[in-house]
Amino acid sequence: MDKFDFYGLSSKDSDATLSKLLQSEETIQTIFNFLKREKGIFTFSGNPGCGKTYLCKAIINDWIKDVYSCRYMYIQDFLTKVKSVIFKDWDCIQEIKDLCETKWFILDDLGANTTMTEWQKEMLLEFVNVRHESMLPTIITTNLTSKALRDLSPRMYSRLKDKTNVFVEISGVDKRLAVKPIAETDEEKKKKKDLEDKEKRAKELYDIHIETIMADLAALNAPGSSEITQMQKDASESLTLPQLK
Ligand SMILES: Nc1ncnc2c1ncn2[C@@H]1O[C@H](COP(=O)(O)OP(=O)(O)O)[C@@H](O)[C@H]1O
Ligand SMILES: [Mg+2]
Repeated sequence: MDKFDFYGLSSKDSDATLSKLLQSEETIQTIFNFLKREKGIFTFSGNPGCGKTYLCKAIINDWIKDVYSCRYMYIQDFLTKVKSVIFKDWDCIQEIKDLCETKWFILDDLGANTTMTEWQKEMLLEFVNVRHESMLPTIITTNLTSKALRDLSPRMYSRLKDKTNVFVEISGVDKRLAVKPIAETDEEKKKKKDLEDKEKRAKELYDIHIETIMADLAALNAPGSSEITQMQKDASESLTLPQLK
């Protein structure tokens, strides 16, 4: 393994795993087929939040890490890196070739930068060309639909759609908006249980006391006993649950 570079990969979802992908069975099957084949470009197109970056991280964790040379780059970082060599009077095309010298390459979020300049499109086309020619395993994620990709660069699109490559377009829900169950911590569970116990005990105490008081009142009401005073009535009605600590 010569290069292993996850430049710009955030630590979020660092435990991402292929076993927990929230994708359709068909998509998951296609992903595994591609992983086993380890050849060509796998383009994963889907709306923001559908799990593209999560997928990249899961593949890195479960398939690539510590085994294959790999470079992960977020689209903007890739373009900035390629552009930076201009100032050194270097050759951008050569820089792309150098960057592509890893078995795996993951380019995340193509199209995230809304409008692309002609130069950026040219660099991307070059990148796709290099990876396509080498047939090395490459993942490109994009929030652009296949139609938008075709409009952006027909030549790049035709390579991505080549029969030796894999193109998956999904329209999943935005997982950032999905409602997640709130997991209770052990401390929260204990607090909840304590409170339930206290409420139960308070109710028991209330029942015992009200029985006693009612019995007293019954005795007072019994023939021959003196009349219940207003004060005694008030006392029984104002009986409240014992204070919870
Ligand atoms: N399989 C998954 N399990 C748990 N969380 C996920 C999964 N897939 C995506 N997410 C969460 O959904 C959100 C969006 O996923 P992300 O991969 O960033 O989407 P995209 O890159 O397509 O915009 C993130 O907060 C991520 O943690
Ligand atoms: Mg993303």
